[in-house]
Amino acid sequence: MPSSSGNLIPDAVIDSWMAGHLVAAAPSRVFGSSLWTGDTSRLLMLDRQGRTLNAGQNACASGIQSLALIPFPVVSGGRGLLQLGYRQPDSFTEDDLQVWEAAALTLGMTLALRAAQEESREQSKEMAALQVLAEEEKTRLQGQLRHADRLATIGQLAAGAAHELNEPLGSVLGFAQLAKNCPKLPVQVEQDIEKIINAALHAREIIRKLMVFARQMPTRKSPCNLNDLVREGLYFLESRCACEGIRMVRQLEETLPEVMVDPAQLHQVLVNLVVNAIQAMPEGGTLAIRTRSENRRILLDIEDSGIGMTREILGQLFTPFFTTKGIGQGTGLGLSVVQGIVTAHGGTILVDSQPGKGSRFTVILPAGDPPKSQELS
Ligand SMILES: Nc1ncnc2c1ncn2[C@@H]1O[C@H](COP(=O)(O)OP(=O)(O)OP(=O)(O)O)[C@@H](O)[C@H]1O
Ligand SMILES: [Mg+2]
Repeated sequence: MPSSSGNLIPDAVIDSWMAGHLVAAAPSRVFGSSLWTGDTSRLLMLDRQGRTLNAGQNACASGIQSLALIPFPVVSGGRGLLQLGYRQPDSFTEDDLQVWEAAALTLGMTLALRAAQEESREQSKEMAALQVLAEEEKTRLQGQLRHADRLATIGQLAAGAAHELNEPLGSVLGFAQLAKNCPKLPVQVEQDIEKIINAALHAREIIRKLMVFARQMPTRKSPCNLNDLVREGLYFLESRCACEGIRMVRQLEETLPEVMVDPAQLHQVLVNLVVNAIQAMPEGGTLAIRTRSENRRILLDIEDSGIGMTREILGQLFTPFFTTKGIGQGTGLGLSVVQGIVTAHGGTILVDSQPGKGSRFTVILPAGDPPKSQELS
């Protein structure tokens, strides 16, 4: 009668043998870790306390009189078991013993080989997938490198051109201003000169931003309180906000640690971001400016309730000369300048925006070293 697991030999007998609780009595023999017996009635099983139980009765009850249990190692760290059972007693010859022992060994080795092949197939699949990922990453990095290279070249070109244009432009502006002061100018001429001056000022602004973008302006860092910079910067923008129906909300963390920055450049960051926010709220709205510190970093949030940005705009935000504003209204360099300055200060910028709801720019700067305690002399 097969056992619950389908074995002809009762599980209790097998478990006992595997656990080393089965004692083989003559005419049995133990060969390596295998058990061979031609008379199962003489098998003894030990219980946990070492008392003998009659295992043979168990085996005989299933009609098995000759029994071989041949364990073999399997890769998972466990053991396989080859079971041979005959209803006749003394069924095993010396040859059987040799053949079946060898068969169990071969079986174990075949299974191990199969498992190794399976594992190596899985590993090759993993390797192939990793190779695809590595190729993708390589292509992405190469793209980034090309982009950075292009930007650096543009930066150098722009810096060179800006330098060369600065001087003639200064002359245009200077002479136009002189001409404007001439007495008794016809109204039309005066208006034309005014246009020349405005155009020259706009061009000068582009040149100035280009030079900042190309990092031609050296940074002069000193320990600053970002709250003071924000207060000073906003002072000049408050009246503009009021005129455009924009409510300004300030939340400045009082215990903000100092930060090592170039105050003039940080002022530019603030102004560029706030002007963008104001321009994004043509119908008025709320402009929130927050400072806070977090894990040795200083954060500056500029949040507006304006038009927000689509994914396409967000994707090009920091590309030099990218603008959605009309000709003469935006150079598309503001955020490139902001990014250049923030990066030069070892910081980053995060942007969160939803079309029709508004945008939030977060400038993150590393906090300066905590002030050393003054030594007493
Ligand atoms: N707060 C904002 N809300 C909505 N769109 C914004 C905001 N800030 C920037 N943008 C978008 O990003 C574009 C690029 O901004 P950036 O400041 O670089 O250039 P600009 O404002 O167009 O020109 P300028 O050189 O005068 O700053 C803007 O044209 C606008 O489309
Ligand atoms: Mg701008």
